[in-house]
Amino acid sequence: MSGPSCARLTLWTAIALSLLITPASGQHRQYSQADAQAKNWPWMDKSLSPDQRADMVLKEMTLDEKIGLVHGEGMPGWGRPRPNWYLGNGGAGFVLGVERLGIPMIQMSDAAYGVRSSAQNGRYSTALPSDLAAASSWDPDTACEYGALIGTELRAQGYNMTLGGGVNITREPRNGRTFEYMGEDPILAGTLVGNRIKCEQAQHVIGDIKHYALNDQESGRNEVNVIIDERAMRETDLLAFQIGIGIGHPGAVMCSYNSVNGDFACENKHLLTDILKDDWRFPGFVLSDWGGTHSTVKASAAGLDNEEPEDIFFGEKLKQAVQAGQVPASELDEHVRRILRSEFASGIVDYPVEKGVVDVEGGFQTSRQIAEQSMVLLKNEGNVLPLDRTAIHSIAIIGGHADSGMISGGGSAQVDPPGPPSQWQAHVWFPTSPLKAIIAKAPGVTFNFDRGTDPASAADAAKSADVAIVFAYQWLSEGMDVSTLSLPDNQDALIEAVAAANPHTIVVLETGAAVTMPWIDHVSGVLEAWYGGNRGADAVANILFGDVNPGAKLPITFPRSDADLPHPELLTPPRGRMRGPEAPPSFTVTYDEGLKVGYKWYDAENKPVLFPFGFGLSYTTFSYSDLKLSAGNGHVATVSFTVKNTGNRAGSEISEVYASLPESAGEPPKRLVGWAKTLLKPGESRELTLDIDPKFLSIYDENSRAWQLVPGSYNFMAGGSSQSLPLAGKVDLTN
Ligand code: BGC
Repeated sequence: MSGPSCARLTLWTAIALSLLITPASGQHRQYSQADAQAKNWPWMDKSLSPDQRADMVLKEMTLDEKIGLVHGEGMPGWGRPRPNWYLGNGGAGFVLGVERLGIPMIQMSDAAYGVRSSAQNGRYSTALPSDLAAASSWDPDTACEYGALIGTELRAQGYNMTLGGGVNITREPRNGRTFEYMGEDPILAGTLVGNRIKCEQAQHVIGDIKHYALNDQESGRNEVNVIIDERAMRETDLLAFQIGIGIGHPGAVMCSYNSVNGDFACENKHLLTDILKDDWRFPGFVLSDWGGTHSTVKASAAGLDNEEPEDIFFGEKLKQAVQAGQVPASELDEHVRRILRSEFASGIVDYPVEKGVVDVEGGFQTSRQIAEQSMVLLKNEGNVLPLDRTAIHSIAIIGGHADSGMISGGGSAQVDPPGPPSQWQAHVWFPTSPLKAIIAKAPGVTFNFDRGTDPASAADAAKSADVAIVFAYQWLSEGMDVSTLSLPDNQDALIEAVAAANPHTIVVLETGAAVTMPWIDHVSGVLEAWYGGNRGADAVANILFGDVNPGAKLPITFPRSDADLPHPELLTPPRGRMRGPEAPPSFTVTYDEGLKVGYKWYDAENKPVLFPFGFGLSYTTFSYSDLKLSAGNGHVATVSFTVKNTGNRAGSEISEVYASLPESAGEPPKRLVGWAKTLLKPGESRELTLDIDPKFLSIYDENSRAWQLVPGSYNFMAGGSSQSLPLAGKVDLTN
């Protein structure tokens, strides 16, 4: 189009836009500290508690202002743009503040392993290793560093709330979001996510834990009804949230898409009110997953405080319901009070966001260090690793786009690589090339790169090299599951062919979850690098050449085959079903394995696994001795033992303590109850003493609706993995 008609259109567009913009513009300026002082708002007194401050603001608010706080204002690319779209910061959503009273807007961004949408925002954010990778560090300090970096970068990009802190436990490892979560054990996952949130929120952003609850598969996530008994859910999936909330005190909990025992999670009174708000005394607010709200009156009464990303149920409809008395005014006040409370508690009112420049180099460094703590050495036959630069003359590097980068997890977790914004569910390889990082480590060595698309040509490339390193990947994303734990794209055949051609074959896995390894007996080494973040290649090279000694351990079991999973078939929704916010769930998944999640399943069913939970090798070795057990006051069990570095290089060991409960407890054979990470020099030994929290030894009793320590004899086991526990002893914990 050209000429006058084009000009007219432009003029009309401008007029239309100005009409849309004018009514709201100026109303939502962020207030400054000077405003606060000038107005002398009593709730700006930092010495008051967040609850007191929230109550004071609530009293001043009109009905419209209250409604404005309990829903989102849209998301770019989601539904029809709303009139005030321009007030957003480009993230997944925003909530209007009340400028008149000094309450800022809440600007939210997804931030699972880094701040999402940085390219769109014209800025940059660090891609950390995946959440599951960082969980392999088993290290609360690493989790804290992870959260602190994300919190800092959120604020630098103009956000004051994170949508991250995913902790759905790995009941279904084919779940496309397994990489966003923290593994299969609720105590480990809950402890780590809690520490991540604690340190993220310390940067003055509202923290969030998600997806509450039992959103354990992506297939049909909006329409699956999960059936699970109360005890199983309390001791597994919900326990991870309970521990995470207890440590991290997030300002928000995101309820999930799925339904649990007949009610959608975002209108499930049992989950939101009975458990989260009443039993756990969670003082913050519940926001719906995007489009996860299904009703007005029911959801509000159940305990949903904020609808995202729009106002389909919590806008005009909620206002009318309040005016008609269908929703008590006090109920709306409670939603608003909780949101205000989290704004005060997190510090976003007292420390308004100031955009800044992200510390790019600092982020690279943190990302690499976390990756080095996260990569798990799974096999090292004949000490093929670390590679000896003086003895090796040629290396074949094969597959996995190793010449250009390393893969990352997709969906709303996706961090944009440098360049144009990434597309939804595109495979994104971060420009961190293992080939280049390895070449830089070994001057004088001859390299041969083969793309790995043809097994025969890869075998040819591998044949004459001293060592062959195959890079293999499994791409995962929100919005889909994988149908199998087998590597995709014919990579099993590729590895078999290379291994047949070269007896020194090492496989580096870039996976979001567990994978099966039919070739395991034919290769010499396996390093699980997960999704390594934007300096993953340096971490891989540092480990392969021994500049870093690996010390991470698996936070999930690697089964031998899909057939060994509790549900060999992944259930998917039926064809031709009803869809939309008012459609009922279309299919059911029954978690009848109950308490037997992850290693508890394989233990109880006596199924051998490929690599057990808690497993990981080092370039040194460790021994365990001198177990001492005692029972102290309040049923605290104390477990002491000595761990010794018996090899010839320094290394850190994650020591794990498991307990078998008395028979009458009716529990799986054992559960993780404590762990410690110790850095030891060659020959050095240290006595470790772990006080075991009685909560971690308890069971959830459905009759009394309380946690109970079953009196009797507890067997404690200590060692280096869930299947290598050389120390064991019993102690009585009797009332
Ligand atoms: C995801 C959430 C995410 C939200 C906003 C949803 O589809 O399930 O995890 O925070 O979108 O992007």
